[in-house]
Amino acid sequence: MRKDIESILINEDQISEICDRIAAQISKDYENSEKKLVLVCILKGSLMFTSELMKRINIPVEMEFMKASSYGSKTVSSGIINIHLDIKRDDMENVDFIIIEDIIDSGNTLSHLVRYLKERGAASVKTCTMLDKPERRTVEFTPDYIGMEIPDKFVVGFGLDYNEKYRNLPYVGVLKPEIYSH
Ligand code: IMP
Ligand code: MG
Repeated sequence: MRKDIESILINEDQISEICDRIAAQISKDYENSEKKLVLVCILKGSLMFTSELMKRINIPVEMEFMKASSYGSKTVSSGIINIHLDIKRDDMENVDFIIIEDIIDSGNTLSHLVRYLKERGAASVKTCTMLDKPERRTVEFTPDYIGMEIPDKFVVGFGLDYNEKYRNLPYVGVLKPEIYSH
């Protein structure tokens, strides 16, 4: 697997620092909220980031899972979002949600999911992404918590995949273009 990686963009120590910083911020921002704090892990890519983040949060927190996909090629997303796994709760008006994403590219997935949870009556909805590629936005969207801004490169590892592979790499690396450009 390492031979398919051009360079390591974020190593394990840096990932750990990102999780420490964001978890401390979230713990502080929500410590006085009367609502239940719920992290929404967007499967599959956000699994590792959500768990590393969650174990560092020092106030009560619950978790939910959603699965969404956009139609498009493997490396370029389209604007249409499908929800394959949804949240089933009857206390939406009592919940502060934070949607946890691995990466924001066009911004379509997160802007759609924020609108969707608000429409369902959530008390509040914020967003957190490990990686952000601001250059690639097609819809205006600014996440509330950002791990790191990265250049317009296709990256894998720490949950992020190409064709379901590389999710298990413990770091985030740039995939060699020759792997996906044929
Ligand atoms: P958006 O809706 O265009 O913001 O797309 C976000 C989703 O696209 C992420 O959850 C990833 O599944 C996928 N994605 C975007 N960029 C990358 C990348 O560099 N590596 C792996 N997946 C990516
Ligand atoms: Mg993906």
